Amino acid sequence: MPEAAADRYQASWSPRRYLEQYYSSETTGDDVANARFVVAQLRKLSAPPREALEVGCGPTLHHAFSLAPFVERITLADYLPSNLEEARRWVDQDPRAFDWDLCMTGTLAAELDIDQSVASTLLPERQRLLRARVRDYTAVDMLRDPPLSEPRTFDLVASYYCLEALGLDRDGWRDCMRRLAELVAPGGALLLGAMRDATIYRVFEHEYPVTRVNERDFAALLPELGFEDSSIRVEVAAVPEFADEGFDSVCCVFAVKPA
Ligand SMILES: C[S@@+](CC[C@H](N)C(=O)[O-])C[C@H]1O[C@@H](n2cnc3c(N)ncnc32)[C@H](O)[C@@H]1O
Repeated sequence: MPEAAADRYQASWSPRRYLEQYYSSETTGDDVANARFVVAQLRKLSAPPREALEVGCGPTLHHAFSLAPFVERITLADYLPSNLEEARRWVDQDPRAFDWDLCMTGTLAAELDIDQSVASTLLPERQRLLRARVRDYTAVDMLRDPPLSEPRTFDLVASYYCLEALGLDRDGWRDCMRRLAELVAPGGALLLGAMRDATIYRVFEHEYPVTRVNERDFAALLPELGFEDSSIRVEVAAVPEFADEGFDSVCCVFAVKPA
């Protein structure tokens, strides 16, 4: 039920616990896969996107980090103000911010296919770029129409581990996918990461229900939502390191709308 999903996050979510669980160790298989996937897909675009929106960013910045070279402005959106506050701390160079250096170094190494040692020398410049590109923070609720405070569209909409993580039934998940697709401008692109064939995920002692989706669901649904058949890419990446957390693979998804 939609309200139950919203309440679950309000009741038990801790931005710092989430970062500790998923982003405190070496770069994981999904981070590497997403970084490579983003670069491969966005390089193909004939018109560079100007405005990007990341839906359900949580307290994270590493996805926006990979978008930064491709766009002029990034808006970070999440349901919980505490997540946006955590992300903003890093952008504002607040000393209490989470340390993203390890994850971002691995992300950059994957994007550019270079050694971590080389990536670490390039890191400060990319981090400056990311700080300059993140221009806005906004509340989003994918259970509502429209999900933002006003109807808007963006040239690029990215969302990672968000819609399936609301634990809705399949109709509810499809409704959220439709709302997400409606945020993409004509000619714009959608980038998605999703836990694959999972039914729950864990953040330490807390368990969150997940809508079970896989590559076939995206391939079937995206044309119905108005994306060009020929643009749709869905790749599967293994993440055995998260098997104990409830999932062992993810889908990386990309699609473009006709102009
Ligand atoms: C599994 S986390 C994903 C965080 C991040 N994107 C990542 O890649 O790690 C799920 C996110 O969905 C957000 N969320 C919860 N309810 C939501 C809603 N109704 N609309 C949009 N996002 C929601 C949570 O606050 C949380 O940040």
